[in-house]
Amino acid sequence: MKLLVIGAGGREHALAWRLAQSPRVHKVYVAPGNAGTAREEKLENLALTEFDALIDFCRREGIDFTVVGPEAPLAAGIVDRFRAAGLKIFGPSQAAARLEASKAFAKAFMQRYGIPTAAYAEFDEAAAAHAYIDVHGAPIVVKADGLAAGKGVVVAASREEAHAAVEAMLAEGRLGEAGRRVVIEDCLDGEEASFIVMVDGEHVLPLATSQDHKRLLEGDRGPNTGGMGAYSPAPLVTPELHARILREVIRPAVAGLKQEGMPYTGFLYAGLMIGADGSPRVLEFNCRLGDPETQPILLRLKNDLAQLIEAALEGRLDQVEAEWDRRYALGVVLAAAGYPEAPRTGDPISGLDQRGEDFHLFHAGTAVRDGQVVTAGGRVLTVTALGDTIKIAQARAYEVADHIEFAGRQMRRDIGWRALQRRANNRSRA
Ligand code: AMP
Ligand code: GLY
Repeated sequence: MKLLVIGAGGREHALAWRLAQSPRVHKVYVAPGNAGTAREEKLENLALTEFDALIDFCRREGIDFTVVGPEAPLAAGIVDRFRAAGLKIFGPSQAAARLEASKAFAKAFMQRYGIPTAAYAEFDEAAAAHAYIDVHGAPIVVKADGLAAGKGVVVAASREEAHAAVEAMLAEGRLGEAGRRVVIEDCLDGEEASFIVMVDGEHVLPLATSQDHKRLLEGDRGPNTGGMGAYSPAPLVTPELHARILREVIRPAVAGLKQEGMPYTGFLYAGLMIGADGSPRVLEFNCRLGDPETQPILLRLKNDLAQLIEAALEGRLDQVEAEWDRRYALGVVLAAAGYPEAPRTGDPISGLDQRGEDFHLFHAGTAVRDGQVVTAGGRVLTVTALGDTIKIAQARAYEVADHIEFAGRQMRRDIGWRALQRRANNRSRA
């Protein structure tokens, strides 16, 4: 089989690398890919991004199926276009991708199906939004309706901060179209978890659980990022909670979309806040895999990923099971100088030739310049390692990461701290 993966990040490197391990797959093209996918066995980068050019390529090369990594092409309708051209592609339609691409759509959808989420209101006019904030007080959360590359959510500790966010989005139009409408919602307390499943329109195959660290700085402080590290499984998600998330969140969402004539196909990601009472509430839906969650999740996957996706494309996800390495996997992100505000590019990277059975270096913002791998984006690499305990996985990931150097490298030293703390607490209670 010949496959195509769309995207250029660590998530896509992990997807393409795992797909290429199938004995039936002899080539995985990655469009556009990065310096890591360029040097992986059976992988080849493709300098194409236009849908028409990608469709031509798939026809010409006889690509068996395409997997889409990021949300932007999904929200722009790549799945509809490929299907109309008679090509197999794994991802949601443009209509179903609104679950991520429009927060207002997602909130109204959740309300229609009784899916637990924070109470909210939506506004496209600043005066009404300001009045709502005055009545509700802080903390409160202001979200741009559209896709804003991680910059669209302001968790405001004070009324002033919330008013400023409304001004920036609705009055000054600082996020462009994405911020022409906002959702304002209650601030939820608890611990976050990522719950990612594969969906074939009807059936659901849950992937291993995971948690990521969204803040730039240690102790989960500082600005929000795309994610500075992640691990799998998430000890927070007990078997009982797992069943509850499927029952209260995932199944109603999949059934609701089917009922409304836009059956969901693809990876579906629920970002959840788990309250102190153990109840899950949805912070957001993403219409794709998480980055960096995918890197530890796929490092643990024991099945042939190409077979799982084929089952999904044929509506047979109820007939397959996913098997996971019993070990923990933990991924540490190495980010560029200036990330997330203004990442610097072009810094040479050393230490990339390390190889081992129990870890993998997934590239994201990297490129080759004059034969040298250099930084080319905000998140540069995710060093992901396996270990019998989360502590061992963490130690191994940092051991490898410490050998990778580039000017201005940013790396949190505490990825996994919540899981480690939970373990310590459980032990002292036992
Ligand atoms: P989102 O893109 O909607 O997931 O928001 C990004 C981050 O903002 C989440 O991962 C949370 O850390 C935080 N967040 C979003 N919504 C809320 C909420 N209602 N209460 C508390 N924190 C939130
Ligand atoms: N790591 C969070 C996300 O992929 O949205």
